[in-house]
Amino acid sequence: MTDTLFSRLWQQYYQTNPGVKKVYDLFQQRETHVTNDHIALRTFDLPNISLDVLAKPFLDRGYHEADHYDFPVKKLFAKHYEHSDSTQPKIFISQLLTKEFSPFLQKTVSTLAKNIPDFLLHDTDKLLTSGVSWEPIHHQVYQTLLAESEYAAWLYAFGFRANHFTVSVNHLKTFPSLIEVNEFLKQAGFRLNDAGGEIKGTPQELLEQSSIMALPVPVQFAEGVHNIPCSYYEFALRYPMEDGKLYSGFVAASADKLFQSTDAKPS
Ligand code: NI
Repeated sequence: MTDTLFSRLWQQYYQTNPGVKKVYDLFQQRETHVTNDHIALRTFDLPNISLDVLAKPFLDRGYHEADHYDFPVKKLFAKHYEHSDSTQPKIFISQLLTKEFSPFLQKTVSTLAKNIPDFLLHDTDKLLTSGVSWEPIHHQVYQTLLAESEYAAWLYAFGFRANHFTVSVNHLKTFPSLIEVNEFLKQAGFRLNDAGGEIKGTPQELLEQSSIMALPVPVQFAEGVHNIPCSYYEFALRYPMEDGKLYSGFVAASADKLFQSTDAKPS
């Protein structure tokens, strides 16, 4: 990836998350090349930081909107973007529908959005890897958000960054299926997200996915450091459609469970 935006997203993701680094290094050693299926980003639906705002740097790079998804239980909406060059990773961006939450959550989110410096709001490229620009963050606020929406709490604590990258299992040479990938990860000591089963989706749905649970990283709160699950690594195996091309979309029911890969227990 020579593009600086993709390189910044990757470096931030790889350097912040020791678990991600370990997974990537293990696959790299065995496969020599790891192809990225998609990158996922999270945000809130406020006008200055919405999904459509975050999508702009990708549209500027030749991506187009391909499909959209509703997550009524988690109160999320998402779109995915594709590039005409199919070797480029797909981009999956979700946003929390804040109006469906409590006044406390709405007030917290609108305050943090107001505290994002103008130079980031004017430069979405930089915003995408800006992390938390609304310090100080408070652990009590984090826990109150967590009780209502894990997604909101995660964004409050980690801000703008890649939520996950995804290994394209189709491009792996030494793993015939997702089952072997999952066994390899478990033997390496990783815990898989088993919400709805270790493998989400079916060959009939044309997409099978799995993921490791995000590992905790230290987060600086005003009151001190707490360890919270940050980003995770996902694995995707795509099946061909009737025209022989690999399915390039997402399966909402599977994504719904994959969001839980950052689940944190209240502490
Ligand atoms: Ni994903």
